[in-house]
Amino acid sequence: MSQSFKKVHAITGMKDILPDTSHEWLALESLMQQWLAAYGYRNIRTPVLEHTRLFARGIGEVTDIVEKEMYSFTDVLNNDRLTMRPEFTAGIVRAAIEHNMLYDRPHRLYTQGPVFRHERPQRGRYRQFHQISVEALGMPGPDIDAEHILMLARLWKMLGLDDIRLELNCLGQSAERAAHRQALIAYLEKHVDILDEDARRRMYTNPLRVLDTKNPALQTMANEAPALEQFLGDESRAHFQGVRDRLDEAGIAYKLNPRLVRGLDYYNLTVFEWITDRLGAQGTVCGGGRYDDLFALLGGKPAPATGFAIGLERLLDLWAQARPIAHPAECQVYLIHQGDAAQRVAMQVAEQLRDNDLRVIVHAGSTGFKSQFRRADASGAKAAVIIGPDELTAGTASVKWLRADAASAQQQQAIELADLATYLKTKV
Ligand code: HAM
Repeated sequence: MSQSFKKVHAITGMKDILPDTSHEWLALESLMQQWLAAYGYRNIRTPVLEHTRLFARGIGEVTDIVEKEMYSFTDVLNNDRLTMRPEFTAGIVRAAIEHNMLYDRPHRLYTQGPVFRHERPQRGRYRQFHQISVEALGMPGPDIDAEHILMLARLWKMLGLDDIRLELNCLGQSAERAAHRQALIAYLEKHVDILDEDARRRMYTNPLRVLDTKNPALQTMANEAPALEQFLGDESRAHFQGVRDRLDEAGIAYKLNPRLVRGLDYYNLTVFEWITDRLGAQGTVCGGGRYDDLFALLGGKPAPATGFAIGLERLLDLWAQARPIAHPAECQVYLIHQGDAAQRVAMQVAEQLRDNDLRVIVHAGSTGFKSQFRRADASGAKAAVIIGPDELTAGTASVKWLRADAASAQQQQAIELADLATYLKTKV
């Protein structure tokens, strides 16, 4: 007796990508491969699971991600604290340090895959989502920050997306931020009476984030707070100007946003986000910037680095709005058969066709000709190849063209099995 089993559902915020939409992912991924290759970026793949302390240290203890969004657990077999990666950058830097990758050359790298954050799910915000993360390790100049932005502008163009806007900011160096932070804390202390609970909780741990408040009552206070810009030294200014000059030369428009602080603590100098109004509340398609302190923070030799990540669900949503992404045909040739002997021959014939680079489905399941033809038609195949009892005896196959645009004939045509591949290849 089978026991009753309560049906299992996917975990909230974690989506199945079914075959009806997976072709959109494949189309996007293949276009992105071309895009990355055009700039010479090479693939790196790091584990989904890392030690929790990598992210706590790398992303920052007082960030939303580390404070409340990580899928962390204790590995009961050895008591290790592990976390499912909430992003790629910390893992890639860990790998670069571990394998001493920067000892003789810099690297342009990319990776792609699922990342995990325990956020409140809504459109464009999931608990398992996908990023493509691009990282340039070992390159200090503003040229590489600009390269990333140019690259992204090209991607939007390749995808036919024209309403993603760029916001840019310079976070300076840690000493400059420390001086600003002191001034900011002093300012917040002066206004402590009007601060909400969230702001009070953060004013000593992450005062910059206080300025990010959504509370309307705090906007004036936030607007009049001391700006980081006033604390930037010559080198930081020159770096940022170097990025801006290159963007101007490339004709890339941007808005300076002094409030842009990003949700991860590892950034310095350039930070940026690409934002659209077409996705509702979750309009940030891409975010990134420079993170020159992360190597040292994670115990490596100091090394400059910069990068960005695109949220692929959001990008795909935008792309699908811009133009429908056609469903590719499941195959070129759909093989229909009747009877056990014909099925066996069909299987062999299909292998021969595949030897000739044709994409072939051999019907399986229901046996009626009518339902087989229906499946053949739905598959998007250009030709149905039929092997029934008559064809079996004659050593032939009948070919029926299924699409109006396919090679002429409405009629079925009998072709010798030996000639079938050549015949089909010239016409599908
Ligand atoms: P991030 O801004 O945390 O940056 O994430 C990058 C992108 O991932 C966002 O702009 C957004 O499109 C997407 N995203 C974030 N959270 C979610 C979510 N819950 N559901 C769907 N999409 C989401 C980083 O992760 C950095 N590692 C980027 C970077 C790389 N900086 C330097 N190198």
